[in-house]
Amino acid sequence: MTSSPSIAASMPQANFKTEALLTANKLNKTVQVGEQTLSIIKDVDIYVNAGEFVIIMGKSGSGKSTLLGLLAALDYPDSGTVELAGQTLSSLDEDALAVIRQHDMGFVFQSFHLLPTLTVAENIAFPLDIARRPNPARVDELIDAVDLGHRRYSLPNQLSGGEQQRTAVARALVSHPKIVFADEPTGNLDEQNADQVMQLLLDLRQKVGSALVVVTHDPALAEMADRVITMHDGRIVPT
Ligand SMILES: Nc1ncnc2c1ncn2[C@@H]1O[C@H](COP(=O)(O)OP(=O)(O)OP(=O)(O)O)[C@@H](O)[C@H]1O
Ligand SMILES: [Mg+2]
Repeated sequence: MTSSPSIAASMPQANFKTEALLTANKLNKTVQVGEQTLSIIKDVDIYVNAGEFVIIMGKSGSGKSTLLGLLAALDYPDSGTVELAGQTLSSLDEDALAVIRQHDMGFVFQSFHLLPTLTVAENIAFPLDIARRPNPARVDELIDAVDLGHRRYSLPNQLSGGEQQRTAVARALVSHPKIVFADEPTGNLDEQNADQVMQLLLDLRQKVGSALVVVTHDPALAEMADRVITMHDGRIVPT
C-alpha cells in the first residue's frame, strides 16, 4: 500500500533520509618518510550538512590540515571516498574537479594565499573570472561587505594581515559556493583582526547559505559552531 501525499507530508521528519552535502567514508592517507610509511589519516568518516558550520580541532600534528585537504579534493586519499552533493570526487578527472572547486567550493588559508600581482578587486574577482562568469557588481558587493572599498586597487603586499584575510574571505564567497573550507583562517592575525575576519566569514556565509568547515585552535570559535569535531592521531575522537 502506498501512502497518500497528505499522510506522507504529516510523517515525522526522522522517517526521511536527509542527504548530507559532503560525506567522507573510511578515508585513509599515508605518507612516505624515508623507509617508513606513516598513517596520518585513519578510517575517517565525516559528514557536513548544507549550511552547517563545523569546526575541526585537535593538537598540532593530529591530521586536521591533511583531512581538510582530502575533503576539498586538494589531495587524494589512499583509500576511501569523498562525495559532494552526490558526486564522488575521486571518480572525477582534474578538469571536472577544477570546475567543482571553482563553482562549489571556497578556500581560506592561514597564510592568505592571495595572488601577489593582482589587486584586491582582481583577487576577489578571480574565481568568477577563471570560471568565465565575470560579475563586477558581485565583486563590488563583496568589496563593500568586507569594507575594503578604499583598498580596491592595492596589491596584497600593500595590505595589513587583516586586510589580506578580508580579501581572501570575500574571494572565498564570491561565487556562492556550497561549502567553504578554512584552515586556521585567523592563525596569523591579532585578536581584534581575528574577531573581525571571523565575524565577516560568518556573516557572509549566512547570506550565501554556504556550509563552513573551519580548522581552528580557538575555543571561543567552537562555541559558535553547529558541531565540533576533534581529531587525535589521525582519527576523529568519538563523542
Ligand atoms: N607530506 C608529508 N610528509 C610527511 N609527513 C607529513 C606530510 N604531511 C603531513 N605530515 C604529517 O602528518 C601529520 C598530520 O599533519 P597535519 O598538517 O595534517 O596536522 P595538523 O593537525 O594540521 O597540525 P597543525 O595544527 O600543526 O597545523 C603530522 O605528523 C605531519 O608531520
Ligand atoms: Mg594544520
